[in-house]
Amino acid sequence: MEDKLHSNDRIGVVVNKIPGSANVLEVLGVDYYCHGNISLAEACAEAGYDADGILEGIYNAVPERPPRCERDLSKAGMNRLLDHMTEQHYDFVFDVMPQLTQLVKRVVHRHGKSHPELIELEHLFDLLREELGLHVLKEENLLYKLIGQFASGDTSARPDDELPEKQLHFLEEEHANVISLLDKIRTLSNGFVAPEDACTAYRSMLKKMKQLELKIHRYIHEENNILFPRALQIVESSIPPHLN
Ligand SMILES: [Fe+2]
Repeated sequence: MEDKLHSNDRIGVVVNKIPGSANVLEVLGVDYYCHGNISLAEACAEAGYDADGILEGIYNAVPERPPRCERDLSKAGMNRLLDHMTEQHYDFVFDVMPQLTQLVKRVVHRHGKSHPELIELEHLFDLLREELGLHVLKEENLLYKLIGQFASGDTSARPDDELPEKQLHFLEEEHANVISLLDKIRTLSNGFVAPEDACTAYRSMLKKMKQLELKIHRYIHEENNILFPRALQIVESSIPPHLN
């Protein structure tokens, strides 16, 4: 393992250094995505854990030399980072969400009478799909293009109406809304645990929802704790002080 971790490291940085640590934090329900700026010790204390025990768990669970896909993304070049994030967007919006939407419909049709909570679950899932779809579209069409231009040295692309910091703050608020919907879905589905009478489709739906939750947590972590701070740095360092 390249870097030694400490309990006073920011939790977002801990996951950047050792991406596999996210799996340990996910199981324990420790937030590393929306509040990556607080220390590991604080985040663990909020979830009712001792940070030293969590660090030991991370070192036991994560291999000495993690696979290539689990290397520190914060060290990637900006273009690679943007490509990586865009691929994730395509995965959610064009792949996972439409498939899951059909599956949810089937499960509600089959089990809605015996499990009325599924009606609310479908409603929350529809809201999540809409929120995420609009959010991702906005990011790709505005922010990603702008960052890409600045990263390649084209500073003429600066928007006049809003400072990048304000735009990023709005996007982080939208991330928090997405997490709030996901949390409600998790609670309503009993932590994605299938009831005894669930059919194969019902079980598959819950499994896919749990996978989606993990993907979204990682995506929000990578934007809030890697892409956005770097984007702000690039844009602000390219703007002459009298225009900033
Ligand atoms: Fe986002």
